Order: sequence, then C-alpha cells, then structure tokens
Amino acid sequence: MEWLENQFKNEDNAKRYTGGFTGENMKKARRFHNSLPQYDKTSLHQLTGFSEETGLGAVYVKDESSRFGLNAFKGLGASYAMAGYFSRKLDMADSTFNELLEAVSEYPAETFATATDGNHGKGVAWGAEIFNQNCKVFLPKGAASTRVTAVTERGAEAKVTDINYDDTVQYAADQSSGHGWILLQDTAWEGYEEIPSDIMLGYTTIVSEITEQLEPGNLDQLTHVILQAGVGSFAGAVAAAIYNITDGDPPKIIVVEPSEANCMFHSAESELGDPLRIYGDMNTMMAGLSCGEPSPIAWNILKSTADYFISCDDEISAKGMRMLGRPAKDDAKITSGASGALPAGFLYEVMTNESHADLKANLNLGSDSKVLVINTEGNTDPDNYKKIMNG
Ligand SMILES: Cc1ncc(COP(=O)(O)O)c(C=O)c1O
Repeated sequence: MEWLENQFKNEDNAKRYTGGFTGENMKKARRFHNSLPQYDKTSLHQLTGFSEETGLGAVYVKDESSRFGLNAFKGLGASYAMAGYFSRKLDMADSTFNELLEAVSEYPAETFATATDGNHGKGVAWGAEIFNQNCKVFLPKGAASTRVTAVTERGAEAKVTDINYDDTVQYAADQSSGHGWILLQDTAWEGYEEIPSDIMLGYTTIVSEITEQLEPGNLDQLTHVILQAGVGSFAGAVAAAIYNITDGDPPKIIVVEPSEANCMFHSAESELGDPLRIYGDMNTMMAGLSCGEPSPIAWNILKSTADYFISCDDEISAKGMRMLGRPAKDDAKITSGASGALPAGFLYEVMTNESHADLKANLNLGSDSKVLVINTEGNTDPDNYKKIMNG
C-alpha cells in the first residue's frame, strides 16, 4: 500500500469545481430518481462490531448493491443522464420519468452506446430498457462472462473488445459518432462534458439519501469519507456533494484505488497535478476501478478537495469483502464485490496492521472517528466472490 497527502488541495478551486453540485441540482436528480417505479432508498448500516474491533468511533456503510436491482450504484447516473438527454431534446426540463416516457414514445427509438467494465453498461442497458430505447455496450478484453450476460439480459447488444478499458472508451466514442448513436459515457474529455456531468449528478442521490439517514447531525458528524475511484466520477460526485452540503468544511476525503490502476494517485504524485494516464492491462480483480485515465471533471474536484490518495493491492479489497460478508458480532452481512469493498478493506487494514501506524496517525483515525464508506457493488463476479470468500 502506498499513500500520498494531497499537495493540491485548494479552497478556491474546490469552490469552483464543485460549483455544479448545488443543493438545487442534487434535488433535481433526487426528484427524477424518486419518480422511477423501481426507486427505493438503499440501506445505510452502522457496523458496531467493525468499529469495536478496529477501535473506531463509528463505521457507516451505505450499501448500493440493491440499487434498482442492478447489484451496483451505476443505474443512478445512467438513468439521470438519459433523462437529461431527452429533457433537452424535447424541451422538458425537470420532468418525471412517466412524463418523459410518454413524450419519448412518440419518436422512433434511439441507440445509446457506452464502454464499460460491466456495472455502468448494465446501468445504461437498464436505462435503455425502461425508456424503450436500443443499446450497444462495449466491454474491455477479459470481461467476465457474467458481466456480459448482465448487459444482454436487459436487451442490449454486447461486444467484448480485445483492448483495455480506456481504449474501449475511445472505440465506443468512434463507433457512436460513425453510426449516429448517443454515447452515454461515465467519463469526460474536452467537448464531451454534458452527459458525464449529468451522470455524476445522478450519483449524488446517494449523498442526499445518506444525509437523511444519518440524522441527527447529518454529514457534519462524519470525520472521514473513503471513496474508491476508477475514472473518478463516483468519488468526484460524492466529494463535491459532501463539500457543498457541509458548506466547504467536509470530513477528511480519502481516495482509494487499485495499485495496478492508480491514475488518481499517479496524477496527485506529479509535479503539476495534471491528470495522467496509466497504460497497459491494469490487472486487478477490481474491474470497476480498472481505469487508466482520470475524468478531468472528476480529477479537478478530487485534486482540490481530497486529503489523501491511496494505492492498494487486491488483497486489501479481499479483506474488505471478507469483513463485510462475514461480519463481526451482530453487524449486518453485506455482500460486496471487489470494487465495492476496497474502502472497508483499506479502513480495516490501516486500523489493524501495525506497519501502517504512521498512516493511521496521519489520517487521525481513532476512537473519535466516524467513518463513511460506500459499498458500490454486490457480487457482480460470483466466481471471484466465491474464491475470495473461501480464501
Ligand atoms: C462497483 C464500482 N465501484 C466504483 C466504480 C468507480 O467509479 P468511477 O469510474 O466513476 O470512478 C465503478 C466504476 O465502474 C464500479 O463499477
């Protein structure tokens, strides 16, 4: 495990880059999600056994594995971005799902396309399914067959490429512009920002739910939030929402990544703090986090708001999967896939492994700490889940 204190944290930039994540914009996303027939709040668990065993004040886990029956949080972003696309096309801002669906059904179906490690593609396929649209999903080489099935089960066409995630994103973008498809990608680049920004706003529904579930005291009572990053859209959205809700005085924000795909860590380590790309196969079981290129929107937020960047081996995520899946004492049992479990695994590791005493002291983690982690997926790769739990 490697760690880095963020040298680029900056108040002015934090205000600037979190500016789109206002309470009003979060409410819009939440209102849309509330209008979906499949909407239900996901659970927030307090793990007392975990905090007692590790010497922490409190540990909260928001469990996104049940979101929309998709086994991961990603449907929040895909559905909100699809709604945003139709709202703009039909000039129907702030409409409910049913209002949009009725209006959309007057037009021929469109084709939405995306590249994905699996979870985002499943979210886009589901979004296309509920809006009665067509969908093409491109997966990187080595994608687990269960991830392909999860997409095709929802009526989308799936193609596994022979290139890595970042190259697959480029491929999906090229195919989309060649065929007139609408690219619904969860990462941004110059000139492609509207849809990824809507996707990120969609993720903030997680934060607005947590705010209600944590009452009394809301987010102000938290001391640390640990967020896992792939391209960073999830961590960036959650960090921005928390930054604004806490009036610019957020808990410590800790970003964790797989060491094989640590593009945030790598960017934070650079002299100028530009978003840097990692190349190669990025072999990690944390498929959702196996991304080599930060989304610039997300990077700007995390660069200005995060306190620490941490690079972790797969074994740390495995510890998190086991901790959550075979909980201490009477804690809720949480089924967590490799990308979902990394923050819990990191927290457990830093609190229980003496060799990380300096990091623990630096992070000021102890009996007064109240820590939030988000389990972003269930057992999306059942074979790997079984292997880890039996390991
Ligand atoms: C389960 C899970 N957690 C976290 C992430 C990270 O999201 P992002 O790529 O926006 O950083 C992903 C992305 O696919 C994911 O599938």
